[in-house]
Amino acid sequence: MPEIQADNQTTQRRVDDLLGQMTLAEKVGQMNQVNSGDEHAVAHLRSAIQAGHIGSVLNEVNLETINELQRIAVHESRLGIPLLIGRDVIHGFKTVMPIPLGQAATFNPDLVREGARVAAREAATAGINWTFAPMIDVTRDPRWGRIAESLGEDPFLASEMGVAMVEGFQGDDLGSVGSIVACAKHFAGYGAAEGGRDYASTNVSENELRNVHLRPFKAAVDAGVRTLMTSFCDLDGVPASGNEFLLRDVLRDEWGFDGFVVSDWDSVRQLAIHGYTENDEVSALAAARAGVDMEMFGESYRHHLPELVDRGLIDIAVIDAMVANILRVKFQLGLFENPYTDPADLPPIADDHALETARTSALQSVVLLKNDGPTLPLAADGLSSIAVIGPMADAPCEQLGTWIFDGDPQLSVTPLQALREMIGERVDIRHVRAMETSRSRHSTAFDEAAALAGSSDVAILFLGEESILSGEAHSRADINLPGDQAALVRQVRAAGKPVIAVIMAGRPLTLSNIVDHVDAILYAWHPGAMGGPAIADLLLGNESPSGKLPVTFPRMVGQIPIYYSQKNTGKPPSPETIVHIDDIEAAALQTSFGMTSFYLDAGYTPLYPFGYGLSYAGFHYGNIATDTDEIRLGDTLRIGADLTNTGPVAAEEVAQLYVRDRVGSVTRPVKELKGFRRVGLEPGQTVRVEFELHTDELAFYGRDRQLAAEPGDFHVWIGGSSETELRADFRVLDSL
Ligand code: NOJ
Repeated sequence: MPEIQADNQTTQRRVDDLLGQMTLAEKVGQMNQVNSGDEHAVAHLRSAIQAGHIGSVLNEVNLETINELQRIAVHESRLGIPLLIGRDVIHGFKTVMPIPLGQAATFNPDLVREGARVAAREAATAGINWTFAPMIDVTRDPRWGRIAESLGEDPFLASEMGVAMVEGFQGDDLGSVGSIVACAKHFAGYGAAEGGRDYASTNVSENELRNVHLRPFKAAVDAGVRTLMTSFCDLDGVPASGNEFLLRDVLRDEWGFDGFVVSDWDSVRQLAIHGYTENDEVSALAAARAGVDMEMFGESYRHHLPELVDRGLIDIAVIDAMVANILRVKFQLGLFENPYTDPADLPPIADDHALETARTSALQSVVLLKNDGPTLPLAADGLSSIAVIGPMADAPCEQLGTWIFDGDPQLSVTPLQALREMIGERVDIRHVRAMETSRSRHSTAFDEAAALAGSSDVAILFLGEESILSGEAHSRADINLPGDQAALVRQVRAAGKPVIAVIMAGRPLTLSNIVDHVDAILYAWHPGAMGGPAIADLLLGNESPSGKLPVTFPRMVGQIPIYYSQKNTGKPPSPETIVHIDDIEAAALQTSFGMTSFYLDAGYTPLYPFGYGLSYAGFHYGNIATDTDEIRLGDTLRIGADLTNTGPVAAEEVAQLYVRDRVGSVTRPVKELKGFRRVGLEPGQTVRVEFELHTDELAFYGRDRQLAAEPGDFHVWIGGSSETELRADFRVLDSL
């Protein structure tokens, strides 16, 4: 600790020294991030960098160019301040890992950390020193295209995984080669965009904001994330890039953040489009006052801040503090010591470790949703032919998902390739794509696909969404399988052979229209470069599925938002109180049904709940017990349960811990995830899964806006999904 304090003091002295030498234009220059994005970057950026008008460049990935831009900044500008080079390195650089939502399904922070580490090293090889990741927006809306980039619906899971990513990108020492600055985004509330329509307004109460949406950000700040990005959205009437409550009151004053905040792309200027400011000049003023330290693209800071300071509308001390935030990060990154990149200092791109990490991540991200029979794993010894059908079976780019600016599709191994490689000598792997894209509506090849299925031992349908159907500005109102895929399923089914669906998608899709027409479903998200071998390993039983859903799967789009940690309401539904629309008799028109909270046509349960995922093993949980029935505020409770592998194979299981606070000064969710653990078990093996729960982990923001745990009665569950019913109870008493 004393060493860190001394380091902080040295850094602060260097920041202050430098700041003392800067002109106002140079200060505002540090607050300006410009887009490179073209091959003449050096020519068009040179004079602005020389003049000290640029603090950061984004979207430049050519190493020679970056080294040259750094050289100009260091040797040709008056103060020699190096540049931050930003890029969206979201789930891998060249070696693409599963989409973040898939990574969340691993429930394995160590693996997620390693994935980010690999991405950081590869990006650093190109001269990039800042990534705009992780995205830790909690979202409960699968229509939103950016759910793919999220870590799911749960604040605890998003916090754990988000922190792991921050640690992976930034490393133990931000100043060491291969570490890059992380950026927690989008602060805040973006995941609640109305109707799942990207950029739409968010209307989130302060209580919900604090208890749900801000939690992962607080965790990232505590873990040392060096930058945050604002959200595009209007939050309760104030767009995030002008939101002083978020950026000053919460982030700086309450949380003590000392890194810097970057706006999202052009979102300072967009304050005027929102109707929050009259023009660019007022936008610059509003954003700076609110606490946006750096403007990403737009240049309203550069054009207006100097004059706003001269006119006394913004205090120079405010500007100084913002520039200091930026310089501090540059010093911590070690940029002043070495602004240049030599790839020889880093491991080669896509080395064995990178590919292995991508493969394990894909393997652990896949969720087995259904397995009648069981149909899976395939008994490859007894098979002579497999029909591999569908638009995602052999689509190297489409298995990578959204945000793959730099991803190399040449590294992709598709499921078709992997199956051929693994068992092609023994088993006839026949392939019909059947649809050109996942959206196609031409069923002309469906007869051929069905015939192939009919003449094979088993049909594997590779379905889903192409990469382009999720991601930023790619929201969908209908989240069924796109195009004619459901019809393809039915036609292949009619051939009478076992049908397995492997679904690759950037979001939970509504699967109600196909679920009864297939024997098994492996949900693979967009699994990244090594998705093929990982999926083949699972199909063939070399590995058992162990992914768990980081987000609830609705039966119908109209159920959204549907998530496990809902509030109870005053009229909670139950199987006895609901009725289906088809069961209402004419004579019953006057009758009321149970008067509880459900849909006549969709009930109240999801198709698959949060935390759910099957295995080729069987897992049984029993004997839950706490070490005591009562604890005091400030104490720790120990909870354990026996977990037995009742199945025929060794496998990993993600044991989950949930809590319900029975009564609060504000109502509490019916269940909240508080812990999880991946456990490997041999057939027949039993282990005691144990968790510790400190009362601080029960804390929430109450009516008084303070974070505190409240005394009272609690339920606690352990199990393999959020629907676990294995429960114990305990009471929290006031501290002595
Ligand atoms: C806009 C996106 O919202 C943000 O997440 C991304 O980092 C920036 N563009 C830069 O590409």
